[in-house]
Amino acid sequence: MSTITRIGVLTGGGDCPGLNAVIRAVVKDAASHGIETIGIEDGFLGLIEDRVRPLSPRDVSGILLQGGTILGSSNKANPRKFASGVGPDGKPILEDRTDQCMAVIEKHRLQALVVIGGDGTMSCAETFVNRGIRCIGVPKTIDNDIYGTDLTFGFSTAVQIATDAIDRVRTTAASHHRVMVVEVMGRNAGWIALHAGVASGSDVILIPEIPFSIERVCEHIQRRAREGKKFSIVCAAEGAKIAGGNAFIERVVATSPDPIRLGGIGKALSGMIEEKIGVESRYVVLGHVQRGGTPVALDRTLATLFGDHAMEILKAGDKKGLTPREASRLVVWRGGGLSDIPLTEACNKQRTVPIDHPLVAAARSVATSFGEA
Ligand code: F6P
Repeated sequence: MSTITRIGVLTGGGDCPGLNAVIRAVVKDAASHGIETIGIEDGFLGLIEDRVRPLSPRDVSGILLQGGTILGSSNKANPRKFASGVGPDGKPILEDRTDQCMAVIEKHRLQALVVIGGDGTMSCAETFVNRGIRCIGVPKTIDNDIYGTDLTFGFSTAVQIATDAIDRVRTTAASHHRVMVVEVMGRNAGWIALHAGVASGSDVILIPEIPFSIERVCEHIQRRAREGKKFSIVCAAEGAKIAGGNAFIERVVATSPDPIRLGGIGKALSGMIEEKIGVESRYVVLGHVQRGGTPVALDRTLATLFGDHAMEILKAGDKKGLTPREASRLVVWRGGGLSDIPLTEACNKQRTVPIDHPLVAAARSVATSFGEA
């Protein structure tokens, strides 16, 4: 029998399809073992502001297919560097609110935290591991870029949405003999662009890991035109860069632990293509549509597996009498199965696309260009 009787659960960072499926799995498993779950609202912000609510199996009934998170999320609340306002120099005033959070943890008698989030959320969790709180991490992101796991939930849904969108854009491209540039998310990793690009048969795929040359991209479009294919589809990751240049930045969110928001490559690229080779071009930015709506079946099952494994680790660590640091683990999917690694191993790292990845090779073999310089 577990000695744990109460845990907290939170969702941090950007929302992602499958978050609710993890919450549901955690709450239901906990309840079946006599463990109470306290939901913390809006990620670590709820811990700072003491906004929590009990979650019973009834509260999570029917949420498996809902996108977003019933708890709310925040990608701006790092307890160690909480932006409490803006100083006269226009920079955020950062305060350490760790003690305040510890008081909330004690007040609600939380013996462990299940933190569902990306690398930023895991870095925040590390603060509490250092203060003796056992934290179990569950990796989420549509970007699929969390170190240590081959797959994150939310990714498959984002790829499906992007693929469907590119399929639709293809009809305009073909009818009007245009170039359509579709900008997809992914931060500094090209996983969404690579998978959606291959799945949609995009003619050019641009990813951050392979810097591109605008000349190579245009040559590929012209080669296709000479072969009688008078339209082309370019699937561009928001983080893709022209060789020797920087990624396109849409905005800087000063109060966020990861302040850079990428964006703008679609517009820039379609303009450059028109200017260089005179082919009519349009762009579409898929943006947050990729994170929205109901998760695909794979994300629902992966999220349920992750939630279940998080509870298994929590209960096992408790029985083995491990220290909070030893017992703090990140659930991962590796080599086709569930596993876990030390929570802190994944902090401040990103998993990008290896340039010798089989899907890169497969894309090349079906005549897709990466526009490499
Ligand atoms: O990490 C998920 C993600 O959707 C990225 O793909 C994207 O760059 C970023 O979040 C956008 O962040 P925000 O929701 O703050 O605009």
